Amino acid sequence: MSQHQLFIQRCFELALLANGKVTPNPKVGAVIVHNGKIIGEGYHRFPGGPHAEINAINSLTNKELLPYCSIYVSLEPCNNFGKTPPCVESILKYKIPEVYISVIDPNPLTMGKSVEKLKAAGVKVTLNILSEKGKTVSPGFFSSIINKRPYVVLKFAQSLNKKIGVANTNVWISNPYTKRLTHKWRSELNAIIVGSNTLLVDNPMLNNRLYFGKSPVKLLLKRNGVLPKDAAVLRSAGKTIIVSDLSPKTFSYPNTDIWQLPFDDDLLKNILANLKKEGLNSLLVEGGATLINHFIQQDLWDEARIFTGNHSINHPDSIPAPTIEGTLINSTNIGDNLLQVIKNKKSLA
Ligand SMILES: NC(=O)c1ccc[n+]([C@@H]2O[C@H](COP(=O)([O-])OP(=O)(O)OC[C@H]3O[C@@H](n4cnc5c(N)ncnc54)[C@H](OP(=O)(O)O)[C@@H]3O)[C@@H](O)[C@H]2O)c1
Repeated sequence: MSQHQLFIQRCFELALLANGKVTPNPKVGAVIVHNGKIIGEGYHRFPGGPHAEINAINSLTNKELLPYCSIYVSLEPCNNFGKTPPCVESILKYKIPEVYISVIDPNPLTMGKSVEKLKAAGVKVTLNILSEKGKTVSPGFFSSIINKRPYVVLKFAQSLNKKIGVANTNVWISNPYTKRLTHKWRSELNAIIVGSNTLLVDNPMLNNRLYFGKSPVKLLLKRNGVLPKDAAVLRSAGKTIIVSDLSPKTFSYPNTDIWQLPFDDDLLKNILANLKKEGLNSLLVEGGATLINHFIQQDLWDEARIFTGNHSINHPDSIPAPTIEGTLINSTNIGDNLLQVIKNKKSLA
């Protein structure tokens, strides 16, 4: 790895400290380098708060060094007045002569405009350092702009002979390590959804209990809106949304919103559009097979995370696992499970 890549890699690490905390904004990290050493660091910590570049600049006690420094940033600095002034102005104000950027901001308000402005002012700008990896730091942000919908992650566990379970029976395939990893993903993604059979058979809580950070907003696909009296999801932390085709006037539950949507071919598109409207840019689909297959058939997915256990399920009512076609981007053993991460070739994000 070149030195520039190492500094950008550090920007990614900083950006990821804000996992699950800055939606709908992108996660961004920045470092300030002087004589080959990092002397300042920062990342975007909360929506509306100072951006990574500003936090990195403010981490320096001696700002007089800035005209002799380079700034590295995981995403093109912003050019627009949002809740904070444009970062480009601060880079120019402090006369930082060199800017290294991993990825151009896909937001039309910026998209290359900051680079032009910096270059016009005589700043040396270098682009596309580890840019493929840079896009993966904020998949929800990129997806909301490029795919115009949240980033969708399909997640399921399958047996060695590719079954996800047995109808009407709660079957465990994953292990304590993969369970914890799933809770980490729940802390990182904004929303989670399950189909009605999974809700009834597994009675899941759907929150994050085994990792630091937030729980996702919990979506339940329940045509008639009626949940079992002992539904664990109603007792677990975080907001619940029931997607039903009945009027919200016909039923209600504590800390629960109802989205009344037609259960037709556009159901999933409408759910994704509602999530985007609420600023929720990523969705974890935790099953079952029917719901996941609907996402696959409509090509409304970006990534699949599949655990495969080391036992077969041989039962007449076993449920076949969804078939995922895409590019295998990672394959790791986690205890007795294999984790495979597959990227949808058609996903633009
Ligand atoms: N191994 C794993 O990772 C894993 C994960 C989750 C679940 N499971 C297992 O999987 C089983 C449940 O899976 P499943 O395939 O039977 O059911 P499911 O996907 O949980 O739920 C299916 C139901 O959800 C509704 N639904 C889902 N997608 C829809 C869409 N696009 N449009 C309209 N309605 C939709 C329909 O309900 P209505 O017919 O009521 O409208 C449908 O019958 C359980 O046994 C559970 O234990 C395994």
